[in-house]
Amino acid sequence: MNVKNSIHGGNIWAAARKHSCSPERFIDFSANINPLGPSPFALEAIHKGIDMVQHYPDPEATELKMKLSHYLSVPENNLLLGNGGAEIIYALCRALNPKRLVLPVPTFSEYREALSRVPIEPVFLQAENNFALPVELISKTMQPGDAVFICNPNNPTGFMVSKSELIKLSVRAREVGATLVVDEAFMDFAGHKETVLPHVLENQHAVVVGSLTKFFALPGLRLGYLAADKALIHKVNQQLPPWRVNLLAQMAGEASLEDENYMEETLQIINREREFLYQGLNNITGLKPYPSRTNFILVNCSATGITAEIISNKLADNNILVRVADNFPGLDKYYFRVAVRKRYENELLLKNLRSIQI
Ligand SMILES: Cc1ncc(COP(=O)(O)O)c(C=O)c1O
Repeated sequence: MNVKNSIHGGNIWAAARKHSCSPERFIDFSANINPLGPSPFALEAIHKGIDMVQHYPDPEATELKMKLSHYLSVPENNLLLGNGGAEIIYALCRALNPKRLVLPVPTFSEYREALSRVPIEPVFLQAENNFALPVELISKTMQPGDAVFICNPNNPTGFMVSKSELIKLSVRAREVGATLVVDEAFMDFAGHKETVLPHVLENQHAVVVGSLTKFFALPGLRLGYLAADKALIHKVNQQLPPWRVNLLAQMAGEASLEDENYMEETLQIINREREFLYQGLNNITGLKPYPSRTNFILVNCSATGITAEIISNKLADNNILVRVADNFPGLDKYYFRVAVRKRYENELLLKNLRSIQI
């Protein structure tokens, strides 16, 4: 049996078992979720939807697709919805069945996991200084039949590459007969200026994967999407079961996309608190945070001489969870990642980190 060994943030359940306490006790900096929680519109929709769970959900998720199409400015025919971005990534990999997997690292581990059952070796391309995307190297490396995954902004580094660079890579993918997959799961937190969404619709060699679980704080309900050329949408759809987007996820998704105040407030808090957290981390001796364009910050703690695992364990004793980042290819035991949360939570994290340094 092939046991999946990828480790992610956000496992409050395991932390609660380990510390013999309830999962709600933790302040979770290990998963990159909107610190405001779900939109009040979404919560109301979920309450109303409870009575409807005795019915199957709309298999086409018609209403949600319409609203998402409007939100992303992408025609409905170019969209496919899934039970989280993760499901879409797995189905896309099955549909593409690539000859090689090209991965600029460090990056999200599920691209590799999604193809771990097929005998292809990933081609890892190391990031440049400060984790900049090695655009030239990717361009030179692409071959016919490749799938190239680029996470933008990148998890776990927070680095964002420009739209113009990605468009060049998508053109190159078309020239060589590769597929460029741009994962924009965290793009909402960066505003949408650098999205490549409009550019993938006519290029059969470029697609965008997205998620509504992070910005709209619905990871427990699961909601993700693919934006692509219609032929590929059809092919990926064939890989997926019906009713995969559950009724409550559909209702919460529709309501969330209506809540413009919540979206604005989210961007304000993330921009303000990312700066606060970055400066706070930077002022702690031995910690090196990396500039981020999204809702999390990668930190190198090598100058403290203390591993991220030890720091994480000490924080967990005080009910604070951070993501040890040593299992991302290209990172070592001295990296951890923290989500941007509310001011009092960020202050608590900084206070606890300072006390570990002393
Ligand atoms: C970069 C990236 N893409 C996609 C996903 C999948 O998100 P979800 O399945 O919750 O939509 C994640 C989850 O952490 C992620 O970090």
